[in-house]
Amino acid sequence: MKKLIAANWKMNGSLAANEALLGAIASGLPAELTCEVAVCIPAPYWAQFRLLAASMPSLASLALGAQDVSSHASGAFTGEVSATMLKDFACRYVIVGHSERRQYHGESDALVAAKAQQALAAGITPVVCVGETLAEREAGKTTEIVKRQLAAVIHANGHCISEIVVAYEPVWAIGTGKTASPQEAQAVHAVLRAQLTAASAHADRVKIIYGGSMNGSNAASLLAQPDIDGGLIGGASLKATEFLTIVSAASI
Ligand code: PGA
Repeated sequence: MKKLIAANWKMNGSLAANEALLGAIASGLPAELTCEVAVCIPAPYWAQFRLLAASMPSLASLALGAQDVSSHASGAFTGEVSATMLKDFACRYVIVGHSERRQYHGESDALVAAKAQQALAAGITPVVCVGETLAEREAGKTTEIVKRQLAAVIHANGHCISEIVVAYEPVWAIGTGKTASPQEAQAVHAVLRAQLTAASAHADRVKIIYGGSMNGSNAASLLAQPDIDGGLIGGASLKATEFLTIVSAASI
C-alpha cells in the first residue's frame, strides 16, 4: 500500500508564510508522487491553498486536510466547522482526536468517534489519533489506552472502519524531539492492526501512520516497519527541506 505523509501545521502560518512554504514544497516534489501527501492546514487558509494549487501544478497532487471537524452536521454551534464545509473545499482528510484536542479541549473518546462519523458521512477520511501519555506508558498501560481510544471509533462506525486512517501518536513524543523507536512504534501498530482485523474484513486497507517528532533523519527507519504506513508530521512539516526528505523516505 502507498504510504501517507500528512503535514499537521497546527496553529501556524500566515498568507505570506504559507505561500513561501507551499511554493518550496511544490518545487521540491518529484514529478510523479509514489506516496500520498496531505497538508492539514488551518481552516482560514483552505481557500488560499486552492488558489495556489490552481497556479502550481505540483501542489495539485497534494491532498488538502483539516485539523478538526464538528461532531454536528450544522446549526447553532458557534465557532464550529462542519464536515460539509470541509467538503466544499475538497478536503480529503481531517485529523480527529489529536492529543492536543483531547488534552486542551477535553475531547472524549465518544466525541472523537462522533467527529469521525461526521467526516465519513461527508466522504472525508478521518485521521483518528490515538496515543498514551508518558505516565500511562510507564504504568504499562499503552495497549489498554490505544485500544480503548480506537474501540470507541470502531463501535460508532461499524463497517465504515476500513475507510479511516489511524495515527499512533504517543503524547510524550509530540513536539518533544523524543521519538518512539521503530520497534516501540511497530509494537503498538501491530496491536492496532490486530484490533482493526478483528473488526473488519478489510482492515488490511487501513493505513496506520506514526506521529511524534518524525523528521528527515528518523523517518526512513520508522517507515521501514511492516505496520507503519506513513507519518503525521508536526514541527518538521513547517520546514520544506525536512518535509521533502520525509516524503522521499516514504516514496517506494
Ligand atoms: P510533531 O507533532 O511532529 O511536532 O511531534 C506531530 C503531531 O502532533 O501531529
